[in-house]
Amino acid sequence: MSAGAPDPLWYRKAIFYEVSVKSFFDSNADGIGDFPGLTQKLEYLVDLGVNCLWLLPFYRSPLKDDGYDIADYYNINPDYGTLEDFQTFLHEAHRRGLKVIADLVMNHVSDQCPWFQEARVNPKSPKRDWFVWSDTDRKYSGTRVIFLDTERSNWTWDPVAGQYFWHRFYGHQPDLNYDNPAVREEMKNVVRFWLKVGLDGFRCDAVPYLFEREGTSCENLPETHAFLKEIRALVDREFPGCVLLAEANQWPSDVKAYFGQEDEFQMAFNFPLMPRIFMALRKEDRTAVVDIIQQTLPIPKSCAWGIFLRNHDELTLEMVTDEERDFMYHEYARHPKMRLNLGIRRRLAPLVDDDRATLEMLHGLLFSLPGVPILYYGDELGMGDNIYLGDRNGVRTPMQWSPDRNAGFSRADTELLYNPVIVNPNFHYEARNVEAEMRLPTSLLRWVRYLIQVRHELDPILGEGEIRFLDLPNRKVLAYLRSRGSEHLLCVYNLSKSPTAAEISLPEFNGWTPVEALSGTPFPKIGELPYFFTLGPHAFFWFRLQGPHEPAG
Ligand code: BGC
Repeated sequence: MSAGAPDPLWYRKAIFYEVSVKSFFDSNADGIGDFPGLTQKLEYLVDLGVNCLWLLPFYRSPLKDDGYDIADYYNINPDYGTLEDFQTFLHEAHRRGLKVIADLVMNHVSDQCPWFQEARVNPKSPKRDWFVWSDTDRKYSGTRVIFLDTERSNWTWDPVAGQYFWHRFYGHQPDLNYDNPAVREEMKNVVRFWLKVGLDGFRCDAVPYLFEREGTSCENLPETHAFLKEIRALVDREFPGCVLLAEANQWPSDVKAYFGQEDEFQMAFNFPLMPRIFMALRKEDRTAVVDIIQQTLPIPKSCAWGIFLRNHDELTLEMVTDEERDFMYHEYARHPKMRLNLGIRRRLAPLVDDDRATLEMLHGLLFSLPGVPILYYGDELGMGDNIYLGDRNGVRTPMQWSPDRNAGFSRADTELLYNPVIVNPNFHYEARNVEAEMRLPTSLLRWVRYLIQVRHELDPILGEGEIRFLDLPNRKVLAYLRSRGSEHLLCVYNLSKSPTAAEISLPEFNGWTPVEALSGTPFPKIGELPYFFTLGPHAFFWFRLQGPHEPAG
């Protein structure tokens, strides 16, 4: 590759930031965030050090599932601005070196979508076959219901059509019929449309569910993979350098299949890892994390896991055992309002009782386990949540910019805000906001910014290096080496809330010096005996290992 040529593997070195346009900044005082507002806040994101924004759905929608119910795939929700505003935003993001990907909802549409409206009123319309209809609600009975709290079946009776229609999510989100070539073609056109406008890729929503086959779970079917490979081929051919990130909340071997032979997704969320990080923390035992990383590696060379701690959804517990789920509920969701479907609807800081050491340690893991770190807006501030708002809205409240009215998010009358700002005394926006945290050198925001900077400096090792877990008798301590060629980073975490000690055997590094990576502090040389550490509650260290002949520094 010549100097200055775009790097097709850019996503492996990136830090992603998930952001909802609606929630970030309101430029026209209507109580709803918009593209001109997001554009005004790009400098904040550049300063934070992230490289790629993932936008939640911004298309026209009745917003019964916060935009994952799309009514018009080719237009922007007018509350968020115009297509021109979106183009200006993209231009300004690109000018600052930021990539932008957006949600692509392929599996289903809103029942308000004209495609569905036409299909239901006219059985003869070609659109009828764009959806999955049946005279009974007993077909595909081996398929689980995902939104267990609200849906009793994957079939809903449509009195206008006089038939049932199939839906894997809400009853107002009919699934598209991917057996119909016209549907497949239309979705390719949607992909082309937005990539031509200038997006750098998509976070592809709910990809396991595209096809249905009797006698199966209707998830991860070969037909689904085949179509997704067609999308990838299209992107590689017509928009090289764009990335596809899979949302497939599945068991390890099923998620790994979405990488294909480097011909399907470049990235997939590491759903199996996420709940196990939280489990290991409260069990004070590294086993769950070590096991799952071993099960989710290796992956094809050009691919990458997207690692996250929290996102806009509930902390999903679909892919853990019943016993593990009970443990998680007991530890993290004692109040019934904290639960939703098979998950926990809380933000990162409240989940860990706002414990600073734990928050730092979790970020240490997020930024050093193999994969691309994905941050959820506001978590860098330690934003709180509101469990009394419905659905998942409690983790989707306005970004907190300053101690001013509406947390500086909007100049609208407070009653107009799409969601109230967080006023819980422990997380009140008056103290927890960008302005206040930027003033305080010890704030979480300042610390996260610094960690991002260090991560970029350690990028070749952390972005591409191998991982080797170190087997030490104290299971409260998680330790691994990230290595790339002769460069090594030793990462050590105390998962427990009490101080602990650990002895790590590192015979091959006899004579090397561990240099603490966040401060540059050299530690005593490694000798022949196991290296001895003491770690405070939830403490962590990253050490660059300096060879005996390397100059100090
Ligand atoms: C999204 C959810 C949404 C669901 C249905 C998910 O995977 O992340 O927010 O409710 O898809 O579209």
